[in-house]
Amino acid sequence: MKTVASLDDLRSQLSELRAGGKTVAFVPTMGNLHEGHMRLIARAREEADVVVASIFINPTQFGENEDLSGYPRTLEDDKKRLIAEGCHLLFTPNRDIMYPEPDLTRVEVKKITTLHCGASRPGHFVGVATIVLKFFNQVQPDVAIFGLKDFQQFTVLKTMVENLFLPIRMIGVDTGRADDGLAHSSRNNYLTADEREIAPRLYQILQQTKAAIESDEASFASLTRKAKEALHEAGFTPDYFNISRRLDLEPATEEDRELVILAAAFLGKARLIDNIQINR
Ligand code: PAJ
Repeated sequence: MKTVASLDDLRSQLSELRAGGKTVAFVPTMGNLHEGHMRLIARAREEADVVVASIFINPTQFGENEDLSGYPRTLEDDKKRLIAEGCHLLFTPNRDIMYPEPDLTRVEVKKITTLHCGASRPGHFVGVATIVLKFFNQVQPDVAIFGLKDFQQFTVLKTMVENLFLPIRMIGVDTGRADDGLAHSSRNNYLTADEREIAPRLYQILQQTKAAIESDEASFASLTRKAKEALHEAGFTPDYFNISRRLDLEPATEEDRELVILAAAFLGKARLIDNIQINR
């Protein structure tokens, strides 16, 4: 695996790798790679001839009081993992490369970005859409691979790709989890040993709510209330717990068939997010 940090090097490596009409799959990340990320690389290998990953902690998607400066940086370990999984090229640009002055352009996907994480992290999805479009323009992949752990992020980026006619196939990969159900996340590093014991409750509560919806046990409003109470009792501070339509992430009605429950909750210093899909 080659690692490149400049645009010139990225371009020349890509043109070598693409020789003979080879297809490219792209996996953008912020590093501190874990098994969840590795699922994306494995899927990328299945979907294209060449796998390109990026590591860039994107400042524009962090709010002022968020964890940009403390975000874990583990480049050497990340490289080892990428090599082991068969990644061909790693792009590790710095801020000046991704946001050259004058830095005046942002990408905004409307409506879906005002809900869920967008409501509690204003500006977050503008940062995400902007950086991902920049990467797409630099790498020009045939396929891009994202995790469904960030279900709203995937929905936002798919909408961007459709709205802007980008010739990129978007693939969402199921969430990788620890044996106890906790979704792998770089932010799990912030959990103390005690909090790590509690953390799987988030997914358990999603599963319980899914089962209750499938058996028509109670109204969505009362299931939502119960789930938030259960999160509180477990020691979380819930941010949101929303039963939504999968299509546009708007609040689901009892008639909707394709649902996703989206949840975010603070546990100590960590803000954990997770979701579960339901077909009725
Ligand atoms: P990051 O949090 O590093 O995640 C990179 C990719 O890995 C995303 O597509 C995310 O959904 C996926 N991912 C994270 N945890 C996962 C898990 N447990 N199972 C499966 N996939 C998982 O998401 C970002 O970075 C950034 O917003 C980015 C898209 C790179 C733009 O800066």
